[in-house]
Amino acid sequence: MNIQFVLNDQMVITANNGAGTLLDFIRYDAQLKGTKIGCREGDCGACTVLSGTLCNNQVHYKSITSCLTPLANIHGKHIVTIEGLNISGVNKVQDAMVENSGTQCGFCTPGFVVSLCGFVLNEENPGQSSAISSIDGNICRCTGYKSIERAVQTIVNDLTAVDKTNRLEWLIKNKFIPEYFESIPFQLEKIEPLLSPAGNLAIAGGTDLYVKSHDELSDMTLNFLSGHSTCDDISIQTGECKLKATTTVSELMNNTIISDAIPGWYQYMKLVSSTPIRNIATVGGNLINASPIGDITITLLALNSKITLTDIAKNQRTIHLHDFYKGYKILDKISDEIIMEVSFQLPDLHTKFNFEKVSKRTYLDIASVNTAITVQNKDQEIVQLRCSMGGVGPIPLFLASTSNFLVGKKITAAILLEAEQILQTEITPISDARGQIEYKRLLAKQLFFSHFITLFPQYVKMEELI
Ligand SMILES: Cc1cc2nc3c(=O)[nH]c(=O)nc-3n(C[C@H](O)[C@H](O)[C@H](O)COP(=O)(O)OP(=O)(O)OC[C@H]3O[C@@H](n4cnc5c(N)ncnc54)[C@H](O)[C@@H]3O)c2cc1C
Ligand code: FES
Ligand code: FES
Repeated sequence: MNIQFVLNDQMVITANNGAGTLLDFIRYDAQLKGTKIGCREGDCGACTVLSGTLCNNQVHYKSITSCLTPLANIHGKHIVTIEGLNISGVNKVQDAMVENSGTQCGFCTPGFVVSLCGFVLNEENPGQSSAISSIDGNICRCTGYKSIERAVQTIVNDLTAVDKTNRLEWLIKNKFIPEYFESIPFQLEKIEPLLSPAGNLAIAGGTDLYVKSHDELSDMTLNFLSGHSTCDDISIQTGECKLKATTTVSELMNNTIISDAIPGWYQYMKLVSSTPIRNIATVGGNLINASPIGDITITLLALNSKITLTDIAKNQRTIHLHDFYKGYKILDKISDEIIMEVSFQLPDLHTKFNFEKVSKRTYLDIASVNTAITVQNKDQEIVQLRCSMGGVGPIPLFLASTSNFLVGKKITAAILLEAEQILQTEITPISDARGQIEYKRLLAKQLFFSHFITLFPQYVKMEELI
């Protein structure tokens, strides 16, 4: 299979194995050494590039970590490295970094500049806080973030004059991006879909697989799932939300219908990894990884999601997500089955949702304990309730007994204290790098109460639960 994409201003066709990483292609095949190798685990952002997808005649750009991206996933896309951003001279973002002393050794700088150019291209209402969020996956070890923040402020100030109706033209005229960007849609539409080989091992975003087994993967024949994703991975009809398994966390986070139904949705999703990881990490990958602390998995369990699996002979079955996890990394799944779709009912006006996550760092960290809840109530009475919790057992846990106990009960401190006793019998945390057993049991208790203090402050007060 030949993989075809536009790299900066050049059309590229390569017969390289699609399982090789984009980072290796950029540095060793294309000899573009501006993109750096740091951690190779998605944590540092030194390898950040932009990936542009053609949707409805427009190219939508997002920052991605090239160290975790299989080459096959970028077929048909526009990949922009630091070299492609200053083809016609130093650009406005680079200028701002220099003016504000936002760089010293320079190792991290291409990653920061690329992420900020992604922000410049994407953000319809650019502000300081969204600009800072766009660099949440970039780490600098020597400059100090204050001067980078000042550079960001300069960029945001410059963007106040942006012409929203002719954004691309304005960005080109004002030297944020080079002129060749205008020709990219015409180049991308010439690229035919990729006929990829169906290898035994499925890969979607690659953010779990490449961290675990980077060296083994590059020579394998993989089944690339994300290469087939389209512009519309989420459909919502009569309150039912259907996601293709290849929906990325960013797509989920930015869906306005879900955000309208679940206040706080955007902020919950922002607690998952970082912008460039969310831009490639998929829902299906999170579910199959079966990590007891998978944030998307815990969220989808509380939403009573169903998953649809298809095997190689195209046999299809749909099961509840809470029936999928049988033991530590043991799934109700035969080896060639692929998750195709995830569906759940959006909370209605009488149903509330909350998500809590405790980790060592607020952002770009996995949870010590995470938990989600949906509560349908009629005044103080609980009509339906589903609570899930991660980091407290071998699987992402649906707290069936605790949830069942609460149905039909009133939301009072006394009932919640009773429910918490049941919760403690359902969980079996172990001591590990993310905390001791006692600490996790305490977190489980506090986060469980936190759901109710957040959602029903009129019925329960924190001091009643201590
Ligand atoms: C820096 C970093 C930070 C992270 N932070 C978080 C975090 O805060 N919270 C969190 O929950 N996770 C986090 N993760 C983990 C990871 O990003 C998620 O689990 C992600 O959703 C995995 O999706 P993917 O598409 O990248 O999976 P992949 O790596 O492509 O695949 C993961 C597994 O799923 C299988 N697979 C993928 N899709 C399917 C499918 N549709 N059907 C069948 N099998 C499939 C693959 O074969 C593989 O076994 C982080 C990862 C990194 C690198
Ligand atoms: S090399 Fe660190 S995120 Fe890719
Ligand atoms: S400038 Fe040296 S790591 Fe950021």
